[in-house]
Amino acid sequence: MSFHVIEQATSRLNRSELAVPGSQPDLFQKAADSNVDVIFLDLEDAVAPDEKESARRNIIKALNALDWNNKTMSIRINGLDTHYMYRDIVDIVEQAGERLDLIMVPKVGTAADVYAVDMLLTQVEDATGLKKRIGFEHIIETALGMQNVNEIASASKRNESLHFGVADYAASTRARTTVIGGVNPDYAVLTDPLEDNSRQQHWGDMWHYALARMVVACRANGLRPVDGPFGDFSDNQGYIAAARRAAVLGCEGKWAIHPSQIALANEVMSPSEEEISKAHRILSAMAEAEKAGKGAVSLDGRLIDYASIRQAEVLVEKAQQLEAS
Ligand code: GLV
Ligand code: MG
Repeated sequence: MSFHVIEQATSRLNRSELAVPGSQPDLFQKAADSNVDVIFLDLEDAVAPDEKESARRNIIKALNALDWNNKTMSIRINGLDTHYMYRDIVDIVEQAGERLDLIMVPKVGTAADVYAVDMLLTQVEDATGLKKRIGFEHIIETALGMQNVNEIASASKRNESLHFGVADYAASTRARTTVIGGVNPDYAVLTDPLEDNSRQQHWGDMWHYALARMVVACRANGLRPVDGPFGDFSDNQGYIAAARRAAVLGCEGKWAIHPSQIALANEVMSPSEEEISKAHRILSAMAEAEKAGKGAVSLDGRLIDYASIRQAEVLVEKAQQLEAS
């Protein structure tokens, strides 16, 4: 291990994160009663300019009045380039800060953006006498944000997670997409021609590099990586495939832009019974090996060593977090 110790952000279940427009208060109760881990009440892209102020009022009222059960509550504020953003923070934190756990900052481009929001939020928290510190979740969804992802990840002690905002990222990088978070058949390789001249086409994942880069920045700074939206909410299989790819890379969760995606995210992002029992078996086998003075042993015909212990511990920790929830 490096001498540099990575401090881990506040730990929360973040398997699913539901986007709920602040301009649609009729959806709030259903969100509160769902099985989602995190809810973000949106003031940004799902809200039209002439509804920004009423959305803010809806959110303040609902944060104070509704029973949100054990949900982690977040608001997505407007971007730092808009004149809505300061009031999003000032009004909501002053009037409903007690029930707010996180602030989601969209289109973060530089560490200075994070600093600016931190400065404003600190003033509001201190002035209102809030005891807790509200955390940050940043959306990495521009070329600039991705270029500066490492600095953004370490820019504030409030940082808890980074989210891959694939829709805006596509717009910012001018990527060619078909559906939000989906694949594009043009991003493919052709096999060399076989004897009969036939060739196969293998589709690739055009988001792999971006997501993997964000995961590394998160893990190097003790944050949760979370995958963003999948636009076609009638395509459950497509959603599950995208969520599985994200989970395989190390993401802890995925957005749900429709309630039907919550259960899919929770399922994919939770360790299975089989994985948990395998993790326990690895830990027992390694404990036995250690007693016998060995650093590596075989289990089910495969080598396991100290790295296997660390992987197994991550799984067991996740299972315990789920049990406690
Ligand atoms: C989310 O905000 C996205 O742009 O994908
Ligand atoms: Mg976006």
